[in-house]
Amino acid sequence: MMIEYVTNAFSPEMVLERVNDLQPWFLVVSVAVTGYLCLRVILSILNFIYVYFMRPGKKLTRYGDYAIVTGATDGIGKAYALELAARGMNLILVSRTQSKLDDVKKEISESVKNRVDIMTQAIDLTRVTDDVLASFEKSIADKDVGILVNNAGMALDHPDYLETTSPAFNRDLININVYAPTVLTSAVLPGMKSRKRGVIVNLGSANGILPAVPLLSTYAGSKAYINQFSRSMDEELKGYNIRVHDQCPFFVTTKISKIRKPRLDAPTPKAWARAAVKQIGYETDRTPYWSHGLMLMAIHSLCPEWAVNEYVHSLHKSFRRRFYRKQAQRAAADKKD
Ligand SMILES: NC(=O)c1ccc[n+]([C@@H]2O[C@H](COP(=O)([O-])OP(=O)(O)OC[C@H]3O[C@@H](n4cnc5c(N)ncnc54)[C@H](OP(=O)(O)O)[C@@H]3O)[C@@H](O)[C@H]2O)c1
Repeated sequence: MMIEYVTNAFSPEMVLERVNDLQPWFLVVSVAVTGYLCLRVILSILNFIYVYFMRPGKKLTRYGDYAIVTGATDGIGKAYALELAARGMNLILVSRTQSKLDDVKKEISESVKNRVDIMTQAIDLTRVTDDVLASFEKSIADKDVGILVNNAGMALDHPDYLETTSPAFNRDLININVYAPTVLTSAVLPGMKSRKRGVIVNLGSANGILPAVPLLSTYAGSKAYINQFSRSMDEELKGYNIRVHDQCPFFVTTKISKIRKPRLDAPTPKAWARAAVKQIGYETDRTPYWSHGLMLMAIHSLCPEWAVNEYVHSLHKSFRRRFYRKQAQRAAADKKD
């Protein structure tokens, strides 16, 4: 009975009859609204294709001679440094370990066709004292620094509840993810302002722009700081021809993500950095890699906030359970030996 009613109600004759009954103004408004919505969808698809696949990157040497990259000995930072050198930028590489910096300096000099000057500075960015900062400022005072990439960062090695992470760990995380990018930005600004050009790229994370990231609250909070800091600084520096970006990856195959094999949603650092460098000088904050851009668009436009929160929460709880299960298995195996 019910099926018969529904079939009749939506038969072509009935639908046509209903349309004929409608007021002409209603039809005009409906067609206009539908047309407008379709146009918006088509334009945003075309814009996505242009931004991620066709828009040319800016000529980076116009911002200055040198690029500073922190956390340049591994992962995204190393790939970023290689990409900048390939585009003619001289480099100042910063990381904790001098021997790793020497190796990366050699690797970049040998692999890049352009002859670039590469300097290195070993700084532990979880401990940027006033003296360390003063000596860093002195070392760059006579350099035309056009780009600063605040990339070095720390994350928890597995999602967990706040009280399980030590105060020392949380202090280090906030120092390297929040304090270091802030003071390094302020160190390069006088030079950039006097030359009226420059770019600061801050490595945020998708975790900093999702509605909530339970069990990774400190990391997500530090990256949310980076997002608002970058947006505010970008506006603050408008009159000086200086741009400040927050570039937010989802997963990239590095030590931090613990993902080894590249996937559609987890590109290699090289692929990610190539995409990221092409976005310099455009929008303030962006997930520079195309599949991450699609993921963020889907999250923002298709998923209700409660569903995203629920999904991330249960995903992180399952990661946490797996971490402790593996730890217990390892302990049991050690006991046997
Ligand atoms: N990979 C991802 O999936 C992902 C996703 C979202 C956001 N991010 C962000 O991207 C940035 C880079 O991450 P990554 O995955 O490329 O990390 P990574 O592969 O672990 O590399 C980290 C780099 O930072 C340096 N570093 C670590 N601790 C340091 C310290 N205390 N002082 C100075 N340098 C230090 C390391 O060199 P040394 O050990 O020699 O010091 C290394 O060069 C981070 O800000 C991270 O939050 C990554």
